[in-house]
Amino acid sequence: MPPGDRPPISKRNLCSRENRANYVGMVGAVCIVLLSLLLEGCTRPPVHEPVTLTLLEEWTTKTFNEARQQELQQFTRETGIRVKLLPSPESAREKLALWQELLRTGASGPDVYGIDVIWTRILNEYFLDLKPYFGNEISLQFPALTASYSVDNKLVAIAYRADIGLLFYRTDLLREYGYREPPRTWDELEIMAARIQAGERAKGKKEFWGFVWQGGATEALTCNALEWQASEGGGQIIEKDQTISVNNPDAIRAWQRAARWVGSISPPGVGGYVEADALNVWVAGAAFMRNWPTAFADSQAAGSPIRNRFDITVLPAGKAGRAGTLGGAGLGVSRLSAHPREAIELVRYLSRRDVQTKRSRVLSVPPSLPELYDVPDVLGPNPGFAMLRQAFRTGIVSRPSNVTGNKYPDVSEAYAQAVHSVLTGEKRAAEAAAALENELVRITGFKKGPPQADQRARE
Ligand code: GLC
Repeated sequence: MPPGDRPPISKRNLCSRENRANYVGMVGAVCIVLLSLLLEGCTRPPVHEPVTLTLLEEWTTKTFNEARQQELQQFTRETGIRVKLLPSPESAREKLALWQELLRTGASGPDVYGIDVIWTRILNEYFLDLKPYFGNEISLQFPALTASYSVDNKLVAIAYRADIGLLFYRTDLLREYGYREPPRTWDELEIMAARIQAGERAKGKKEFWGFVWQGGATEALTCNALEWQASEGGGQIIEKDQTISVNNPDAIRAWQRAARWVGSISPPGVGGYVEADALNVWVAGAAFMRNWPTAFADSQAAGSPIRNRFDITVLPAGKAGRAGTLGGAGLGVSRLSAHPREAIELVRYLSRRDVQTKRSRVLSVPPSLPELYDVPDVLGPNPGFAMLRQAFRTGIVSRPSNVTGNKYPDVSEAYAQAVHSVLTGEKRAAEAAAALENELVRITGFKKGPPQADQRARE
């Protein structure tokens, strides 16, 4: 069944039997690899043997893993240090649960971990402070990324990938329907999507959709919904000063508008979509897609029906301006690593300028170093890179992970479930926002209040 044809709104959640079975299998696989490394270590003579590190990556697609293996082989050639890449689950929440399980159970876990920007405070205690080792590199990173990886004065991870929500659009269709530019506002997007969809369907493309995005009740919905509401002045869910601001008219209107999209310009099943689902429908036939810059690679792949027929821009503005959610990944060194020196070398190598440059070309991974966005070779193939750079200037919004620390997974889950209940029509937006506000008080103990005037960062 093509993803656009999914049964209407299904919840994707961690607790499904299938996900749990996958997760248990994944934990098993990671444990077997770790155990075999440990046994290897025990039987080996202790001196003059090359060190083998283990790396647990936050982002794992088949193509990414293949390219990463090549990077690791190059690292071994340069340093003599070997690295074993561990498998990891798909969703952000399952990954975090696995990371926590491994870090809590103590010794012999991975040496280096991939860390999503939202995990810094949650995992802080298990990681070394990288600040003393990366004096020169830190100032070269996007400041917003460094801020996301900092707790007080400690640097928990070094970023190697920047990420921002962007708008993908079909240039051929915009031209055909008489639009010279991509939509500047959400209202324009809604009108253009509806018109193009109606036109394409009239031509017989019954499965064509106006706008696809991520509506499944996962971390990805937290990112999408935050963009809708922050661009309308509806705040950051919980503000930097610990005010729970989510129950406000601008956020409510933004959620309600998205609920209107479901089944009109967006597929009825969009409430079950994660990034890969939106990408599949977009490649099969949709006018617009919200996704991360890396979605360029599959859209532009040889054999893709939309190859050279699309472009990428910043997300549309609401009445408060534009807001793309800041995402991204970094690498941290476990406090429990038996080889911290070598592990730090690995982090240094994977975040190095030349390695990031190559990765940006091979995999369309946006670098974490702003200076690389001035290099024509890096900017060349993926228009999303220039737009990511522009989004850093026009407005980015961060999820409230640093202000909520360990509570962030519960906060994000509650938020995504509340928005999801509006998308499914189960609740009205005002009702869902009021209930969420109380739930967030219960989770965090913070006070209620209005959003700050403009919470979008620019750099
Ligand atoms: C992307 C982002 C990450 C975010 C995730 C949500 O991988 O880089 O920050 O948490 O998507 O699905």
